[in-house]
Amino acid sequence: MTAPPDAEDDVAAFTQALIGSRYSVAPKHLHAPGPDAAQLQRLVEAAATAPDHHDLRPWRLLRIADHQRLRLADLFEACSRDRVPTPEPRHIERSRAKALHAPLLLLAVLRSSPEDEAVPYTERAVTLGAALMALLLAAHGMGYGAMLSGGRALRSPRFAQAFGLGADEQAVCFVSVGTAAQVQRRPRPSAHELLADWAPPDIG
Ligand SMILES: Cc1cc2nc3c(=O)[nH]c(=O)nc-3n(C[C@H](O)[C@H](O)[C@H](O)COP(=O)(O)O)c2cc1C
Repeated sequence: MTAPPDAEDDVAAFTQALIGSRYSVAPKHLHAPGPDAAQLQRLVEAAATAPDHHDLRPWRLLRIADHQRLRLADLFEACSRDRVPTPEPRHIERSRAKALHAPLLLLAVLRSSPEDEAVPYTERAVTLGAALMALLLAAHGMGYGAMLSGGRALRSPRFAQAFGLGADEQAVCFVSVGTAAQVQRRPRPSAHELLADWAPPDIG
C-alpha cells in the first residue's frame, strides 16, 4: 500500500519519535496497571514480526503470573544460596525482590533446535533480540515502561529445571512491563560512532 506523501512523512516522523523516546525503566519503578490480556497479545504479536531466517521461531515467552511471584522469589533465593551458601540477608532480599516488581513479567527463552545448517545460533539470537525490541517499542507505544534484565540465576541448572526448559533451550532475560513512575533519559551514541564505510586492508 502506498500512502500519500504527507502521510508517509507523518509515519516516518512518528516512527522516529517512538523509537527515539524509548528508554528502559528499571523493574522497581514499574507499577500497576500493566498491560491487560488484549494488550499482552498485541505485545507478543509485535514480537512475532521479528526477522526470522527459515521461520524457525527460535524463541518463546513464559509469563510469570501474579500468584507465582513468591515461588519465583523462592527460586531466586535458592539460586543465590547455590552460589553463596550463607549469603548476607540484604543480598537475599534483593534477589527475592526481583520477582515481585512489575505487573507483567515474562521470561524470554531462546531455542537452538530445530537444526538448520543455514541458521547458526547467532542468527537465532538476533531473532530473539529483534523480537524483544519490537515488544519494548510496542509497550512504549501503549504508554508503558519496560526493561530487559538478566542475572546469574538464569544461567543455573536449577532455574532451567524450575521453568521446564528443554536441553535445547536457554533462558535469556526477563521482560518487565508496567506503568513507569519515572523515566530516566540518557544520551545515545551518535550514528557517527557506529557507522563507517568499509575500508578493506590493502593486501596488494
Ligand atoms: C538481554 C539483556 C539483559 C539485560 N540485563 C540487564 C540486567 O540484568 N540489569 C541491568 O541493569 N541491565 C540489563 N540490561 C540492560 C537494560 O535492559 C537496558 O538496555 C539498559 O539499562 C539501557 O537502557 P536503554 O534501553 O534505555 O538504553 C540487559 C539488556 C539486555 C539486552
